[in-house]
Amino acid sequence: MTDFLVRSRLADLDPAPHELLQIESERQFRRLIRIPSESSAPLAVREAMSSAFQNIYAEGYPDEATRTQTEAEILDYELQLAGYRRLADPRYYKGVEYADIVEALARRRCAEAFAANGLTPEELFVNVQPLSGAPANNAVYHALLEPGAVVLGMSLLHGGHLTHGSPVNRSGKFYQAVHYKVDPATERLDYEAVAALAREHRPKMIIAGYSSYPWSVDWKKFRAIADEVGAYLLADIAHVAGLVAGGAYPSPIGLAHVVSFTTHKSLCGPRG
Ligand SMILES: Cc1ncc(COP(=O)(O)O)c(C=O)c1O
Repeated sequence: MTDFLVRSRLADLDPAPHELLQIESERQFRRLIRIPSESSAPLAVREAMSSAFQNIYAEGYPDEATRTQTEAEILDYELQLAGYRRLADPRYYKGVEYADIVEALARRRCAEAFAANGLTPEELFVNVQPLSGAPANNAVYHALLEPGAVVLGMSLLHGGHLTHGSPVNRSGKFYQAVHYKVDPATERLDYEAVAALAREHRPKMIIAGYSSYPWSVDWKKFRAIADEVGAYLLADIAHVAGLVAGGAYPSPIGLAHVVSFTTHKSLCGPRG
């Protein structure tokens, strides 16, 4: 009986969800009904997603030293396992020696893909743990602000995201959100108007980067506004992360205090 539960294929164990998986695959194959935040993960990504790592807890972080190690050093198992045995690992549980390596590898690859504007991969502090963009932004709010702090973000109706202070989202419930809009005549950002709102409301954090704004962002101008009023600048590049990594869109790295993005939009990765 136990063997049946643990080793059966989904089709035998529970045909209903199995059938739904097949139908959904077929729907996605035949019909292109997509919102801009969606993409198709390559099969290799889906293969990695259903690995044995899903069985374990790995709260905490890999060893800090791995942030400045090269990919070859991170994948040097003898080196990594010796370190793991010698130093008490900084996680809360045991059995995470390979989870450490895979997370360190993801952080390193991310740092290499996004190092820009004169910063080296070693100078970037990457966190790959959030399960998607909304929890990533929540973590940024939590790390940098006290509840009730003023945040300045683009209005949802003008291209911002729910997590940029919308009243239906926790960002709008727990923080005091002020919103800038696009210029009604040009439909583009009006940096002077953003600066005027910042001077008036003195936000603790300014958010730039959007769900539906097709023009590029002048990160330097946003940083100058943030510096003038003593605010953090969060660049939410969820939609354009793939273009930023590929050099086709201006990078906010080194200009924004924090950069957040998802891995399942223009990066075509797993949800994250
Ligand atoms: C600008 C922006 N930030 C954050 C998110 C949130 O990402 P997720 O839906 O993966 O949590 C989105 C989603 O589309 C987005 O457009």
